[in-house]
Amino acid sequence: MNHPALFDAFPALAQRLARAPLLEGPTPLQPLAQASQSLGVEVWVKRDDLSSTVYGGNKPRKLEFILGRALAEGRRELVTMGAMGTNHGLATTIHGQRLGLTTSLELFPQPLTSVVLRNIKLFQHFGARINLSPTMERAFLRFRYWQRLRRPGACFIPAGGSSPLGAVGYVSAGLELAGQLAAGQGPRPQAVFVAAGTLGSQAGLRLGLLLAGQDIPVIGVAVVPLAAANAKAALNLARRTLALLRAADPSVPELTLAAEDFVIDPGQLGPGYGQPTPAALAAMDLLSRQEGLSLEPTYTAKAFAGLCAWAQERPGQGPLLFWHTYNSARLDHLADQVDPAGLPEALRKYFLAQ
Ligand SMILES: Cc1ncc(COP(=O)(O)O)c(C=O)c1O
Repeated sequence: MNHPALFDAFPALAQRLARAPLLEGPTPLQPLAQASQSLGVEVWVKRDDLSSTVYGGNKPRKLEFILGRALAEGRRELVTMGAMGTNHGLATTIHGQRLGLTTSLELFPQPLTSVVLRNIKLFQHFGARINLSPTMERAFLRFRYWQRLRRPGACFIPAGGSSPLGAVGYVSAGLELAGQLAAGQGPRPQAVFVAAGTLGSQAGLRLGLLLAGQDIPVIGVAVVPLAAANAKAALNLARRTLALLRAADPSVPELTLAAEDFVIDPGQLGPGYGQPTPAALAAMDLLSRQEGLSLEPTYTAKAFAGLCAWAQERPGQGPLLFWHTYNSARLDHLADQVDPAGLPEALRKYFLAQ
């Protein structure tokens, strides 16, 4: 069983924070030799896509702590929200099911991609209860409505799992990276690039690196409008996460965090959330051809496109580290078994034209 780097750094937290072990060990840190040659700078990847062979990517890190607390509190049901193809919703459904928890998803429409359609089928396969609202605002209102009713058996998880408790998983990830660098498993990067949506990954990572004494910039490549993904919001989440950790273990140092700690790259969003861009598709193609790594166009391709643009603007300034946040466990065969006729009516229509 994997022991989180957070508990190595602050052993008292192991007694204070409930955890459902989902990760299968520290994720590998690997050089990207071909991509480095193409980009003219040393590039490495942190393989969080391999965080779990059940369903990996960035979500299991957050869910370890969220589901750990849900179980400790005796909850039976998980309720969360997101766009129609939410990876967070899928990760919650899959890992929740393995722990005996059912999941209800409050969804809203997003641009259709093959990943989105596949995820919808997987919600069905893994037994999620689904409701599709016409807009994000309506989905959020429904989520809040259920939350206000305070059903005692239900655990409400914000979009992306980016509560302070979820971000704790990425504090541990930052400490894990620092440990790998200290052990000589890779060079100290000039900057880390990660997709920035609900910001739990970026905020937690930066905080974890700072707690390890590593002042390494973490560039959050915005995949949602800046009204949501911005430095102030990341700072706020990081502060609340640090407060949670310090309340659980006062030996966690009180860091002075500032908005400058959370650099947001606004340059890759394109027309909007979930809308593929030429730069993202080129980044996807490059990593697939040269390194055999699969990205998707909504998050990871835009994050890697941000790294490519950075490398172009600052020739030779490396090494750079790409944080791979998309699950790479194969689930297509399970999606293929799902008959869309069994989906809720509001979702069925998306499959009629296929
Ligand atoms: C594959 C992938 N990468 C990155 C992110 C963004 O992470 P965060 O919401 O912590 O900013 C998400 C969020 O849903 C995701 O699904």
